[in-house]
Amino acid sequence: MKQAIATEPRIGASILRLFFHDCFVQGCDASILLDDTATFIGEKTAFPNINSVRGFEVIDNIKHNVEAACNATVSCADILALAARDGVVLLGGPSWKVPLGRRDSRTANKSAANRDLPSPFLNLSALITSFAHKGLTAKDLTALSGGHTIGQAQCQFFRTRIYNETNIDPNFATTRRATCPVSGGNTNLAPLDTVTPTHFDNNYYTNLVNQRGLLHSDQVLFNGGSQDSLVSSYSGNSAAFFKDFVVAMVKMGNISPLTGTNGEIRRNCRVVN
Ligand code: HEM
Repeated sequence: MKQAIATEPRIGASILRLFFHDCFVQGCDASILLDDTATFIGEKTAFPNINSVRGFEVIDNIKHNVEAACNATVSCADILALAARDGVVLLGGPSWKVPLGRRDSRTANKSAANRDLPSPFLNLSALITSFAHKGLTAKDLTALSGGHTIGQAQCQFFRTRIYNETNIDPNFATTRRATCPVSGGNTNLAPLDTVTPTHFDNNYYTNLVNQRGLLHSDQVLFNGGSQDSLVSSYSGNSAAFFKDFVVAMVKMGNISPLTGTNGEIRRNCRVVN
């Protein structure tokens, strides 16, 4: 992860998101890493993932080295969990002990990926419901959304926010409109946290308090609803954010793991053995 981040700091963000998208679809079982084949439909082409999730080559690289050192022992699911943690640490965020022992799925579920991965156009109650389906609380939702302190988003996911919404700082909207036109430029990127896009800190929450959340699903966490006070407290207290983020990451990492004789230790993260 050190090498990968030295080459491209954004990759820490991409791996963190990959882990989230793995855990929300049939558990943290590396199902997202499986490639489509003529006879197998994976999750990579589901709407929330296609042309959006990235970092697969980094996981391949780590797996290659781990297999060379100690073969058939460490699952792709555990590698992803550890890489996500290490990315956060390398970008200045908190560290934590990652519970291990996940095994890799022999299946994937594209329709579950389409159904269960939250859209950036959801309102607060829909986000809370989406996380509740995975055993996560509203507090976990707000703490985990702090993952948006790093990384980038495509214009198509925040266009309606910067042109049509009123709970947005006008200068921020103007800045973002410069590279995200009304039509075209769908894949143009903007940082989720304008201030420190490659540093894992609590600026995400300060942005929300200042109506500078990039996605609709970001700003609903601070828009007169139940999460306002938590967002305010994280914006003024990075230690509180880090503490709750770590708790929520461990919780998310515990979603329906495969253990015992379920699943397998994949040799190549892209294909079942
Ligand atoms: C609350 C519901 C969430 C929604 C609706 C959401 C949505 C999105 C969207 C639309 C993007 C931009 C994708 C693109 O433009 O290709 C994104 C990026 C990202 N998300 Fe989320 N997300 C959510 C929660 C989370 C969680 C829980 C985490 C991790 C703890 C996370 C981590 C990230 C990261 C790090 C990026 C940047 C990835 C990169 O630069 O490659 N998100 N998210």
